[in-house]
Amino acid sequence: MEEIIVKEPREKIIKVGEKFKVQFVSMTHDARGVCKLNGKNKYNEELVNFPIFVNNAITNEEGIVELTEVKKTLGNAKIVKIFKDKTSPYRIEAICPIYSECGGCHLMHMNYEGQLKFKRSMVKQTLEKIGGFKELKVSQVIPSVDTVKYRNKVQIPFGSKKNKTICGFYKNQTHEIIPIEECFIQSDEMTEIVKFIRNLCNEFRIKGYDEEKGTGDIRHVLVRESTSTNEIMVVLVTLRKDIKNINELVTKLVNRHPKIVSVINNVNDEKTNVVLGKKSYKLYGKNYIEDILLGNKFRIGERSFYQVNPKTTEVLYQKAISLAKFKPTDNIIDAYCGIGTIGISAAKYVNHVYSVEIVEEAIKNAFDNAKINNINNIDFVCGKAEEQIVTWKKEGLQIDAIIVDPPRKGLDIKLMDTINEMDIKKVVYISCDISTLARDLKHFKELGYNFTTVYPVDMFPNTMHVENIVLITKE
Ligand SMILES: C[S@@+](CC[C@H](N)C(=O)[O-])C[C@H]1O[C@@H](n2cnc3c(N)ncnc32)[C@H](O)[C@@H]1O
Repeated sequence: MEEIIVKEPREKIIKVGEKFKVQFVSMTHDARGVCKLNGKNKYNEELVNFPIFVNNAITNEEGIVELTEVKKTLGNAKIVKIFKDKTSPYRIEAICPIYSECGGCHLMHMNYEGQLKFKRSMVKQTLEKIGGFKELKVSQVIPSVDTVKYRNKVQIPFGSKKNKTICGFYKNQTHEIIPIEECFIQSDEMTEIVKFIRNLCNEFRIKGYDEEKGTGDIRHVLVRESTSTNEIMVVLVTLRKDIKNINELVTKLVNRHPKIVSVINNVNDEKTNVVLGKKSYKLYGKNYIEDILLGNKFRIGERSFYQVNPKTTEVLYQKAISLAKFKPTDNIIDAYCGIGTIGISAAKYVNHVYSVEIVEEAIKNAFDNAKINNINNIDFVCGKAEEQIVTWKKEGLQIDAIIVDPPRKGLDIKLMDTINEMDIKKVVYISCDISTLARDLKHFKELGYNFTTVYPVDMFPNTMHVENIVLITKE
């Protein structure tokens, strides 16, 4: 076995290949361990507390790392070993064999208790760092109902290697495809469907996409599953329409997997990282699947946003609704409404719901969803939330509460200012990005709003992500 030379700090050169004995002092938001080195760079300049980032390292652990990259202000390293007596009590063997290569999960080396602790401290740190909120309470993270096989949607890139069509997950921070065998956060049936499509592509000579040359036939496969109705949708994202043998592929696919009730061909001919192109064609069945949340049925089209962890979504929505303490006379807004899930779930507690969403297909689903659930006190508008709220203000709408559930980039400042101008006293903010939530809370504070507690909800076990809910009020 190779002898490990443990260098003592200060006089050592901090360069690629060197090994150092370290202690991990903290973790980054994306779950990399941080240690600090003292030594010299290759120009003999002294480096003090030079930060090094290490995948899969846990705060307070001690061990040996090997430097893999040294930049001007930071470096990256890999773990050589973690000392037995300095191993975190949260460390476990990751169940997934490709965990260290795949970019999908970030916390599989920690048990679930450790993951929840990490997420809570990340939320606290970010709120303090970005928002300056030292006193803001962060509750214990509300755990996910399931911690594995919870995802209802997968999006798998297809490529080409040695003239064969391959598919899998992107290797950490690259576009190199690691072939898919099993995935522990999505259902086995979705994984089997994707692998079967890959085999059929090879049988029917449907070629995987070559990103560099921009050639090939199939770029991605998206699968969506409803565990409550057992329906599955498959979207084949191809470079062109009318791919040879695609109908034969679909026939074999739906025969093997009868839960598939919808197959869509989406065409994406642009050189882009965005998965879906502008045009879609139905190849089989319906153009939606249905799922049930809090007793209501929801139609979901291939372009519509739908939460990926449906069992914990019910917990999330119930928490949001209970925090809001709606009154039967309340008129509320559901901004960024997607297919209307939150507004429809809240409708029975209030007088009227006004909803807005930017994606046309989602709004079409939302109209259907209100109808099939016999909800009559809800309206939907397709547009930008930040513009529609100004229209509602001009129309003189009197609003008691607003639920906002924006994408990662958070709220438009115009939307927050208009909430204030309309004198809306209650805002329930559901956020999937703690940094933008911290930024937006700061603005609400400047507008005179108050909030006391952030409630993290773990919608994404084994990954670094966490959803948060905050009730923001004005007297
Ligand atoms: C995090 S999702 C929430 C959807 C829904 N509330 C749910 O729980 O399923 C954010 C939604 O905002 C929509 N969106 C993005 N930008 C928007 C904008 N400027 N105005 C309105 N909707 C927008 C997205 O299409 C997406 O459906």
